[in-house]
Amino acid sequence: MSIRKFAFSLFALTALALPAHAKEGGGHGEAAQHWSFKGMTGTYDRAALQRGFEVYRQVCASCHSLNLLSYRNLADLGYSEDQIKAIASEYAVMDGPNDEGEMFERPARPSDRFKAPFANKKAAMYANNGAYPPDMSLLAKARHGGADYIYGIMTGYADAPENMTLMQGQYWNAAMHGNIIAMSPPLSDGMVSYEDGTEGTLHQYAMDIATFLTWAAEPHMEARKRTGLKALIFLLVFSFIMYGVKKRVWQDAH
Ligand code: HEC
Repeated sequence: MSIRKFAFSLFALTALALPAHAKEGGGHGEAAQHWSFKGMTGTYDRAALQRGFEVYRQVCASCHSLNLLSYRNLADLGYSEDQIKAIASEYAVMDGPNDEGEMFERPARPSDRFKAPFANKKAAMYANNGAYPPDMSLLAKARHGGADYIYGIMTGYADAPENMTLMQGQYWNAAMHGNIIAMSPPLSDGMVSYEDGTEGTLHQYAMDIATFLTWAAEPHMEARKRTGLKALIFLLVFSFIMYGVKKRVWQDAH
């Protein structure tokens, strides 16, 4: 094999290993946004994660649980131990039984799971006109389109076309399967004021909550990508070495 052929094969292999930059729309027509965490070296934007958490806890948390997260996981977002203790202590959780056999409430600790808004699925449905607000721990991974889908739901509300009648509690949404959703538009401009001074627009909230929920569904993404990249670099170096070895072994054969 000539050096040119070899270089070409290496190039082709590398290109194959890199994920194609496919257009990642949600499949329901919502446009793909630019996300810092896409691509082979993409990482989460810590400021966006913290803003997304604010949106979650001020808005979405009154209906949607995040059962797989504990308060201490918030360290990933850049919060200090003291900040996490303070955040957790704002929530009251059930504990017990105590020595008298009674259950009691206490402030949450960093090791506690995120407090769920409803005691069970029935209570959640009863409070929401019979519709169930799904747990959001894995939502960003479970839905086609991921972050784009969540962004799409947040920004996809519009008036229903004339030939479509909605029942009470139903809304038209471009990103929802079948275009009907039983969640009133949860976000609007100015609803959450950000501590870091970022302007509170619907677009911004939608980007931030989608980033936060992607992290919630895939908190180890960054480590996974680092390992992948290391493996790729190793393979490249290894192929060069093996090429050298092959030349050496065969040099006397002709
Ligand atoms: C008042 C209660 C309520 C609030 C607040 C709320 N939701 Fe919902 N949400 C629901 C209900 C109920 C559904 C189920 C709708 C359906 O099945 O048609 C839902 C569905 C969804 C879906 C679609 C789920 C799927 O199965 O694909 C997404 C995404 C979503 N919510 C995100 C959010 C986000 C993000 C927030 C915060 C910004 C939020 N919701 C706030 C009640 C709520």
